[in-house]
Amino acid sequence: MALLTIPDENTEISDWNEISAFLAARGVRFEQWAASAPLADDASAEEVIGAYESDIDRLKREDGYVVCDVISVTSGTPNLDQVRAKFLPEHTHSEDEVRYFVEGSGLFWFNIAGSPVFRVRCERGDLIAVPKNTRHWFDFGPTCFVKCIRLFNDPAGWVANYTGSGIDQKYNPVYATPVGSAAAV
Ligand SMILES: [Fe+2]
Repeated sequence: MALLTIPDENTEISDWNEISAFLAARGVRFEQWAASAPLADDASAEEVIGAYESDIDRLKREDGYVVCDVISVTSGTPNLDQVRAKFLPEHTHSEDEVRYFVEGSGLFWFNIAGSPVFRVRCERGDLIAVPKNTRHWFDFGPTCFVKCIRLFNDPAGWVANYTGSGIDQKYNPVYATPVGSAAAV
């Protein structure tokens, strides 16, 4: 289940509708989608996109996304440390960052003016759209398993503008520590 955490207020929100409302109040789209047909674990990108075609087309119409693809990251992904390190520092994008979690999970952290820093653990079935120019970062989490559909405004794809604030270092755990310890999320 999705989980919203505000570390500095020692607060967690586990009710999906409450999470969605919290995010909507801050301009972040959060939806739950369901596949139109069962998907095999080894389904092709075309099959994955086809299973969510109606929702993908709706978002394209509403927010102007023009292309989508499917990415997978697992603990066996080559150069995983470098891949993880790309997403962990606080950054912004000049376009929305839109991710639908087909499988697995991941942590989106937000640093939005007027709100304490918070994170959303997205799970299978969750769609999240980080608005352009929003300060955020992404953590694969301790299990490091995710298959996502990505939608883009710009076919050029994903470019991060790092803020260099270092605020992420206050919150990101060190995953060299075994999962289940106090430092793991
Ligand atoms: Fe990002």
